[in-house]
Amino acid sequence: MQIQPMRSYERARGVLAGGCDSPVRSGWAVGGEPFVQTRGDGAYAFDEDGERYVDYVMAYGPLLFGHNHPALTRGLDALARDGLVYGSTHPEEVRLAERVRAYLPSMERMRFVTTGTEAVMSAIRVARAYTRRNLVLKFAGNYHGHFDLALLDAGASAHTADAARSGIPAGVTRDVAVARYNDLASVDNLLRGREDDLAAIVVEPIVGNMGYVTPVEGFLEGLRERTRRAGALLIFDEVITWLRFGLRGAQARVGTVPDMTAIGKIMGGGFPIAAFGGREDVMAALAPAGSTFTGGTHAGNPFAVGMAHRVLDLLEEHPEYYARMDALGKRLAGGIRSVFERRALPYAVVQHESIVDFKFRPGAPNRNYDDALAADKEAYAAYYHAMRERKILLPPSQNEVMFVSTAHTQSDIDETVAAIDASLAATLSPAQPA
Ligand SMILES: Cc1ncc(COP(=O)(O)O)c(C=O)c1O
Repeated sequence: MQIQPMRSYERARGVLAGGCDSPVRSGWAVGGEPFVQTRGDGAYAFDEDGERYVDYVMAYGPLLFGHNHPALTRGLDALARDGLVYGSTHPEEVRLAERVRAYLPSMERMRFVTTGTEAVMSAIRVARAYTRRNLVLKFAGNYHGHFDLALLDAGASAHTADAARSGIPAGVTRDVAVARYNDLASVDNLLRGREDDLAAIVVEPIVGNMGYVTPVEGFLEGLRERTRRAGALLIFDEVITWLRFGLRGAQARVGTVPDMTAIGKIMGGGFPIAAFGGREDVMAALAPAGSTFTGGTHAGNPFAVGMAHRVLDLLEEHPEYYARMDALGKRLAGGIRSVFERRALPYAVVQHESIVDFKFRPGAPNRNYDDALAADKEAYAAYYHAMRERKILLPPSQNEVMFVSTAHTQSDIDETVAAIDASLAATLSPAQPA
């Protein structure tokens, strides 16, 4: 009998905790064998058998241009030539900060960090130092990374349902209030009697972590007004939205200006770099001028900074990219809508430029985390695997969204719509109309 070599996901279980570096990748939300990727090329991901999948995970957001856009990967030796990391301030990081600020003027002063987690965590520390207060109000279903307070009722694929046993100290939970997105009354209820201790409200201005959720009219303005009234700060987490919704990010779209902003994901073109920043007087809380510390061996890493310049260069050279992704997004959303119509399925499809999303829940699109949690998880799991069999790679969790990139083509989209039709036909229970 021939012994089959162990597959990578089996080996992973023997050496990586839980078989992965980030739980969503283990596929716990959909069951079955986790996807193991050996390479990416344009709109495609490849598995260990060399099978090609149309990729809508896009690394959970960073790959606006798909995998390996030549403008990002060409001549990387040149980026490495002058050294990979310095531990000193360098001119290119200053130039990057100037470029970022030109697009996000609310970031009057900023600092580069390595991950989105660090960016939001640092912004919150600065906000607490500046206001000399403790309370942070966040929203269920928003995901801000994996630092302690951010994980309470987090969206995306954070798996900390049992906060008491998750390693988050009770002391942390005391200073966090978790409100309902799009629900100012829930904000008011939580803040009643605590306004004087409110340091900041942190929010995804447009949410990509409980499915795709847009703010209802007046919601962000309401947060702006309440933070001002309380003498607290408003922090926008634009880790997903900056560059996804244009060079000026979500803040230019929603018309509300935050005191502080966190950015990441797309800006590194696949390399880890993120930033936080905001009002000059607020950021003055940071050492050496102020008493708050943030730092990092790789903060402002020259190679990652070089990649961020390439990302901005590419977007400045190709303003048509956004319209192209919007057209692809519309084609995909339109195709899914017609499948649903034909199959009399009552699910709402939402599309905003390169984000396309639907949930297995009848009715209007998600407005908050309660809606997201009400979606049918078993139906999604079956659909996810049916799509994977048809060589379409979706995120292995219904809290995530589909990302279209500049590398996707109309024929990728048409192949995807056909696969959706076939996958729904294969997975719908006989009771449902087909
Ligand atoms: C809105 C948002 N903020 C913060 C983060 C954390 O970023 P990172 O995974 O780079 O730490 C994420 C990651 O998915 C995110 O979606």
